[in-house]
Formats: sequence, structure tokens, C-alpha cells
Amino acid sequence: MTSLQTQRVVIVGAGLGALYAALKLAPRPVLVISPESLGAGASSAWAQGGVAAAMAATDSPESHALDTEYAGAGTVDPAIARLVTSEARRHILDLTDLGTPFDRDAAGGYVMSREAAHSMARVVRVKGDQAGHEIMQTLIAEVRCTPSIQVAEGVLASGLETENGVVTGVWLERAGAPSGRSLLRAPAVLLAGGGSGGLYAMTTNPPRIRGQVIGMAARAGARIADPEFVQFHPTAIASGEDPAPLATEALRGEGAVLINAAGERFMLPVHELAELAPRDIVARAVYLERQAGRAPALDTRAVLGEDVITRFPAVAEACKRAGIDPVSQPIPVAAAAHYHMGGIDTDAQGRASLGRLWVCGEASSTGLHGANRLASNGLLEALVFARICALGIGEALGAPAEATHVDLAFPEGAEAVDEAAVARMRQAMTDGVGVVRDAAGLTRALSVIAEVEAEATSEAMRNMTATATLIAAAALARRESRGGHYRSDYPKTDPDMAQRTHITLAEALAIRARALEDA
Ligand code: SIN
Repeated sequence: MTSLQTQRVVIVGAGLGALYAALKLAPRPVLVISPESLGAGASSAWAQGGVAAAMAATDSPESHALDTEYAGAGTVDPAIARLVTSEARRHILDLTDLGTPFDRDAAGGYVMSREAAHSMARVVRVKGDQAGHEIMQTLIAEVRCTPSIQVAEGVLASGLETENGVVTGVWLERAGAPSGRSLLRAPAVLLAGGGSGGLYAMTTNPPRIRGQVIGMAARAGARIADPEFVQFHPTAIASGEDPAPLATEALRGEGAVLINAAGERFMLPVHELAELAPRDIVARAVYLERQAGRAPALDTRAVLGEDVITRFPAVAEACKRAGIDPVSQPIPVAAAAHYHMGGIDTDAQGRASLGRLWVCGEASSTGLHGANRLASNGLLEALVFARICALGIGEALGAPAEATHVDLAFPEGAEAVDEAAVARMRQAMTDGVGVVRDAAGLTRALSVIAEVEAEATSEAMRNMTATATLIAAAALARRESRGGHYRSDYPKTDPDMAQRTHITLAEALAIRARALEDA
């Protein structure tokens, strides 16, 4: 074990929230911990839709906040919704100034897409479906030329060091090639390392996004909020690829329809907004069609024809890889784990329940998303809270101290993550903690997670099993259906349960132990 000390703020993660926070903290020295080279492996870079923001003259942050609350199914924090939606414009203008090539109309206005549960077209986009990639490229270019930012690529954070409830450092190891761990002590830590979608066998998230950051915070004692609320995207392309490529919701905003093998538009009888109903409702309908063997598919032919190729290049490319021609064929789709509404519980300043720990982006749970995130609010929340965290860290630490370059070194040793065990747990999550849940399936999943945990030989694996336990245990405890959490044994929404969940890992482990005892 080696131990180092730095005066740099340590930022765990390298997606949109991490890089934007690093820029907002400048010239305060920071160290960004990135398991891959910048731009690879982060969910933000894969985001197709864009950033939800009330940029149109006919729109308002208030209307955006109301849509956020409606989609969130009764547990959105209204103050956070107003805070985030009223900050949206500032960040779009900021990203524009940094050089993000947002799609513009002839008059210079932002071109906006419509996505599910938005009352109007409100999603600012780049080159059709390239928003995540293009925004990340803009930020990476800026980060690379900002002297206060040191980026440690190929490094993984696997634990938090605490003293009396205050975070004092981060445990780091080499990513990819296993190594021993080094402790880096730092004045403040910002976690911005993404969500948990990759804990599921069917997911749209990059392979590394498997709940490790939430798990490491929970293991250090941080309070977690709303872990049971996982969003399943209705139109992952069912091509057998892992992760499953996305067919962006903006396609449905353009008028693409969902059909089954009989050519029926199965969303029409389900919801008055049909394909543009809240995402959880569409995901459930797609899931049930697939379970019934009716091969749900997204049909872009009538509305987009050949334009799908040029206007949605990422979708076209994914179809090509799978041998699907979207110009002449419907695109087969399935519901896939896409976004974790739950995460590390944070207050309106982005602070976790442990001292000197801030969190932004999907790893956090701020109260914005409730039980079901409104489309394209994810990147927006990451931007807004990255800035809030940067301001809060600056205030807490006072004048920046001088910081030298951090030379990380890792001892040899440690075991690699057992990929077969990960695959077993991912399948158990999809089968038992997926789109439709019940007590028996959740208990079976908890049993597999406990077995995988008992055999775990790496911290990365223990972080994954911690998050998987939190998701499944909270889902077992919530005996109702709400937003992304649907229980076939409790199919109704219970108005008395319209509260957020706040839970520690110790409490989740106790739920797991009781369930396994009773089974
Ligand atoms: C999409 O483009 O459908 C995804 C957007 C999002 O998840 O917010």
C-alpha cells in the first residue's frame, strides 16, 4: 500500500459533470480520475438526445419544471426542479461560447427536438443524435488546455477513506491491468462517475458504468437516495450487442411509431400520448410485447425515409452493424437499463451526507428525477450541479493552495474482477430487478448478489454488489408501483408512499438478510 497527499481537489469520473466541474473549479488545481482516455467509457459521450432547456420564446423554466414533476410520478423535489430548469439557459449559452456546435436554424435559433413527456420541443441537440459526443469533445479540448487540470487516465477509484464521517482521500488502482491500491489524501472529493445501468445484462450504458461509484460511497457510509428507481429506455436496438445501442427518443419526437409483428401500433390503447408517453410507460409496453413474443419495433420509414441516415447517424451506424436497414425495415427494439434516478443522496449544494464529499451527475440523487427522469434532463442536471459543486468546494476550501503534479504509483498485486460472476449478477438483475418486478424475483436476485459478494476478491466487485443490493433491497421494500419501479404484485401507486427513499448500505443489507432468511 502506498499513500500520497495532494492539495488538488480529486474528481472521480470523466464524463460531462466531471469535466465541466474541473473547468468551473479552474484555476483551483484538480486531479481528474479517468479509467479510460478522456471521452471513452463515459455515458455522457453516448447521449444521443441532448440537453433539455427552455430556450424557445414560447417556453419557460416553469413549464419545463412542471413536465419534470409530471414525468417523475409524485416524488420530484419541486424546489430542485425549479432550480435546475431555471439554470438551463445559462449552461446552453456557456457551452455555445465554449464552441459546442448546437444545431441552429436559418435565423440562428437553436433547433430543438421533442422527446417523451415534454409539452413542447425543448431538447437542444447537435448534428441530430450527436449531442453527448460533441459536447464532450468541446469540453475535452478545453480541459486539455487548462493548466490547473491534471488528468490521470487509466486509473480507477475503488474506495473512499474517511475519518469521523469526513472524506479524507480516495483509494486508487490501475484500470484494466489489475494492481494494488494507493491512497491519495485530498482536501475535497467530487464524485462524478456515472450510474448503474451496466449492472444489468440488457443496458445502453458503457461497460464500465456498473454502480461502482455509488457503491464505494455507500460502503464508506454515505446515505443513498431512491436506489430502486432505475429507468429503462424503451428503444434500445435489439441486435444482440452488449451494451445495446440506442435508438433515440427524438425519433419518436419526429413521428416514428412503435409497431409489433402484426403491424399494430401498440402504444395507442396504452396512453393518450402514445409513443410520447412518459418513458416508464413506453418501456413497460415494449417489454410486455417482447415477453409475449410480438417483436416490438420502431418504424421510422414513413416519417423519415432515407433522411434517417443523415439526420440520425449514430442510429444508422448501429443499424448497419446489426444488418438492419432502417430505410426499408422497422428497427427491432427492447427495453434496457439506461439511467439510475437513484444515487448518492445530495442536498441543493451537491453535498453528500459525508463531510468534504460532493457529487454531481448520475452518481447523485438530487431529487430532480423522482421515480422517472424526464428525457434529456440528465445532461442538464450534470451541468447545473457540476457548477454548484465547484462553487461549494471553492467556498469550503477558501483560497486555492499551490499543488504540484501528482505522480501516482501502484503496488503490484490484487485480483481482477471475475467477469463470469459479473455476468451472473447482471443476468439476475435483468431477470429479477428489471422492468417488471415482484417479491419472488427480487429475492432471487438478492440471493445471487449475496453469493457473488461472498466470493468477491476485488474492491471493484464489492462496490458493484453494494449498489446491486441497494437497488434490489429498496425495490423489495417499496410495495407499490411508481415511475420506473413496477411491481406486478403491487401494481397500484400508493399515495401514502409518495416519498423518496433514503437508505444506508447497512439498512439494505438488513433487508437482504431478512428476505433470504424468510425465503
Ligand atoms: C434518448 O436520446 O432517447 C435518450 C435521452 C435521454 O436519456 O435523456
